Amino acid sequence: MRTLRIASTVAALALATVFAAAVAHAQMATQKKSLYDRLGGKEAITAVVDDFVGNVAADKRINSFFANANIPRLKQRLVEQICQGSGGPCTYGGKDMKTAHAGMGIAGKDFDALVQDLAKSLNKFKVPAKEQKELVAILAPMKKDIVEKKTASR
Ligand code: HEM
Repeated sequence: MRTLRIASTVAALALATVFAAAVAHAQMATQKKSLYDRLGGKEAITAVVDDFVGNVAADKRINSFFANANIPRLKQRLVEQICQGSGGPCTYGGKDMKTAHAGMGIAGKDFDALVQDLAKSLNKFKVPAKEQKELVAILAPMKKDIVEKKTASR
């Protein structure tokens, strides 16, 4: 009788441990997923970048900056940059942001226009607000290296 009680206590404890471990694991899986994974990986990032560069090309406010750009290379660099920056398995192989944009005379309003074009694509692909915010937070610090021209309002 006593052996049976001990055995069932041990079994109950084991079950509780397994259950707690499963809950902890599920919590970790939702919390620790990288932004890269939550964005949908490289395929999804490539689709967003394609659309985003299309928006930029159609955006009369800033498209003149890209008149002589190598668009396929730019897209590839952007994918690498977003992939790496969001915790994905990529290595950005381009220039640093200061060197890449040196002498272009990009103003704060041009930077903001480009971020709006990105937001349009993120919305189109139904990227949730949380992930959009995280991505913009990765890109925003680059502003100081990209913008060279002061505008009156900024
Ligand atoms: C967060 C904002 C931005 C990011 C992450 C970004 C990223 C990049 C990257 C990765 C490259 C390629 C560098 C390389 O080939 O080594 C690039 C090039 C370039 N970017 Fe940006 N950029 C940003 C903002 C802007 C803005 C606001 C403009 C102009 C309105 C701009 C215009 C250009 C141009 C014209 C090139 C050269 C493309 C070429 O020659 O093929 N960028 N940028």
